[in-house]
Amino acid sequence: MIVAGAGIIGLTCAWRLAQKGMPVRLFDARETGAEASWAGAGMLSPGGEVAEDSPLARMAIDSLAAWPAFVKELEEASGQSIDYQTCGAIERACTDEEAQALRQRAAQQAAIGIRSDALNNFDRFYPGDAIVDPRDVTAALRIACLRAGVKLHEHEPVLEILPGGTSVRTAKAVYADDAILIAAGAWSATLCPPEFPKSIPVRGHLIAWDATGIRLGPILRYGHTYILQRARNGRIIAGSSTEYAGFDRTLNESIAAGIHARASLLLPTLASLKPSESWLGFRPGLEGDSTGPVIGKIAGGSPGSSLWAAFGHYRNGILLAPETARIVSESLIGR
Ligand code: GLY
Repeated sequence: MIVAGAGIIGLTCAWRLAQKGMPVRLFDARETGAEASWAGAGMLSPGGEVAEDSPLARMAIDSLAAWPAFVKELEEASGQSIDYQTCGAIERACTDEEAQALRQRAAQQAAIGIRSDALNNFDRFYPGDAIVDPRDVTAALRIACLRAGVKLHEHEPVLEILPGGTSVRTAKAVYADDAILIAAGAWSATLCPPEFPKSIPVRGHLIAWDATGIRLGPILRYGHTYILQRARNGRIIAGSSTEYAGFDRTLNESIAAGIHARASLLLPTLASLKPSESWLGFRPGLEGDSTGPVIGKIAGGSPGSSLWAAFGHYRNGILLAPETARIVSESLIGR
């Protein structure tokens, strides 16, 4: 298998396939996990992301359930510790209308197995929500992949899938294999046949504070504004923004200031604290109405080719990684 893209999705798929005995070459334009996986806050929270029954909701719930065993197995395979917390999340409403909408959403979520409890008229607690540090996960996956025999090609992007769909070209060589997996996140559109949903970057800014002395506990959320804390070093992270700005890497200070203002409404003590860092990442979105992700064999490749896809995870790439890799590896090899 050739895997194009060594973010959390490509890494997890490569690890699972190599564990099942498949020879894997994993390519990336940069180092492993350097893009959206590095930028992500690491909220594992179907409670904040899905409102009603859908294939995506089911997958999010299944993948959340897989995370504890995934962390344990990955820690053992890599010898690295992973900052993972089942801390729950508090979802806030600020007006009576918002509180009513939150109650309605909670009833729909309860019907598909996402539990939440009212704390008062405005706030709900989601006990199942968790946080992981995605940078820990991709660092551990890199080691686990190498130990499982994956051949890692960092700084060597797949430039093209050659006609026939059984070989790829990079700047260094042409590599052939029975199967190719496109897992290049927001960059997948350059490799995917035109009849498939097109990946697009959806930029998001995040900001962080270090050494604040604050102890947060659960994730705090209001709409798409969230605050969470790393267990290892107490770092507080707030997000985010949703921007259609292509692959522009220029930090926008007014967007970061907007996140600071929104985060301060959730946790007023942040208002007077200067963030120690801000950064951005490119979520792997999909053009048009596609709700994504695109996972599975891509029909429409040439006869005899075995072209696979795992991209378009948008806001949930970290959450959906274990379940994506299970689906890909079981479809390719079986259980
Ligand atoms: N998953 C949170 C975000 O994409 O901002």
